[in-house]
Amino acid sequence: MGDAPCWAHLFYDFDAMTPPAVPADLDAYLAQHDARIHEQLFEFLRIPSVSARSEHKGDVARAATWVADAMRAIGMTAEVAPTAGHPVVVGEWRGAGAGKPTVLIYGHYDVQPAEPLELWESPPFEPTVRGGNIYARGSVDDKGQLFLHLKAIEAHLEVRGTLPVNVVVVAEGEEEVGSEHLERFIVDHAKRLACDAVVISDSAMFAPGLPSILSSLRGMAYFQIDVQGPSGDLHSGSYGGAVVNPAMALARILATFHDADGRIAVPGFYDAVREWPAKVREGMRALPFSDDEFRRDVGAPALGGEKGYTTLERLWTRPTCEVNGLLSGYTGEGAKTVLPAKAMAKVSCRLVPDQDPLEIERLMKAHVARVAPAGVTATVTHLHGGRPWRADLEGPLFDAARRALAAAFGREPVIVGEGGSIPVVGDFERVLGAPVLLVGFGLPGENAHAPNEWISDENFVKGMRAIATLWEELGAGRRT
Ligand code: BES
Ligand code: MN
Ligand code: MN
Repeated sequence: MGDAPCWAHLFYDFDAMTPPAVPADLDAYLAQHDARIHEQLFEFLRIPSVSARSEHKGDVARAATWVADAMRAIGMTAEVAPTAGHPVVVGEWRGAGAGKPTVLIYGHYDVQPAEPLELWESPPFEPTVRGGNIYARGSVDDKGQLFLHLKAIEAHLEVRGTLPVNVVVVAEGEEEVGSEHLERFIVDHAKRLACDAVVISDSAMFAPGLPSILSSLRGMAYFQIDVQGPSGDLHSGSYGGAVVNPAMALARILATFHDADGRIAVPGFYDAVREWPAKVREGMRALPFSDDEFRRDVGAPALGGEKGYTTLERLWTRPTCEVNGLLSGYTGEGAKTVLPAKAMAKVSCRLVPDQDPLEIERLMKAHVARVAPAGVTATVTHLHGGRPWRADLEGPLFDAARRALAAAFGREPVIVGEGGSIPVVGDFERVLGAPVLLVGFGLPGENAHAPNEWISDENFVKGMRAIATLWEELGAGRRT
């Protein structure tokens, strides 16, 4: 295999690999059924399964049923399991038998709200192909990637009547709102979900043509700060200067979160942060990355962050504390002289191993209570949390993954970190005791959570081929 600017060579001896290939029969099946597979994907994408909005509750339920039907149609058993929130869909095929590994595939069928609608070039829930990309809300995050897993299973079962591994598919409807009920579900169903490996496609590749295995995810502690001053809005002339302004008080609280070097100044915040292995940091520096290109992509006048770290280190290895939303006072047209009664901020901290979301929330609460100016009350309310995660990248699962990715993409994968969060990943690992493989087929610029979300059709197709090959490799138990 060629020598890519990647850091997989720190873990693997690629020269010792026999070049793997996508099994020809599976490849032919996927090519033959390409049109129908796309039609089915588009049908799935048309369901506006927005988990955050109560008016879409029925659509979320409809998407769950759709996924269960899609599982049954390919020969799996499927159950739509209710939770206190949106349902979990569990699909199973256990025909490989006890001598073969069991893999759990996780994905989510819920999507982010599509707003602002006016910025979409084609309607968010009417999938449209432009320039080789499929545009729709959920195309890449995560319906397209969940669906490609079902089609990889289908290829095996249709062509060969069997699969080299047992599979359990867990499709969730609450990922985009924090997966609040999934941990409980995994604990309650731990026996049924017992497996040798967890595989998830809900992330992106580092660059086009560069298949990527994730080595880490950040966790999350999300809360809301409410600052209350006077019992009602006041005339800012008659009262301003003598009554503490809640908007100003909130601004002062928020301003204490960081020091001048961009470090989080909340006492105890970094106590649990575990050092990153030297070879991981070395690998990150070897990835092809340009600060200037990144800056231009985001359209910011300059980059900024914690002093002493590179951009990728800031994104992948360091925790953050960010304001996600701010609300107070008059924000309409023109001027209104008012001293607002209250102010609110949505704040989320991205966490790294081994920070604990509840402990971070406790520290933040104590800090806010300490720094809140006299004359207002500040309350911190929990919204959601999730643990950070780091992989060890050793063992047959990762060997199989890198062979399968090499087969489908024609080059060895790179190992990358990730700044985003998938709250349930740490739970899977802890509760089920199985290694987690994160292999996603999105691309930078895919507009996840934003208008004009897309998945590259080439990646969707190669993703199906890679995953079909993954089961072949894992079932064969080949090692290099
Ligand atoms: N698929 C993303 C996670 C992700 C983002 C992976 C970017 C790789 C790259 C997931 O659907 C997501 O959006 N997660 C949320 C979690 C939150 C709602 C708890 C996130 O990261 O904000
Ligand atoms: Mn996702
Ligand atoms: Mn998402």
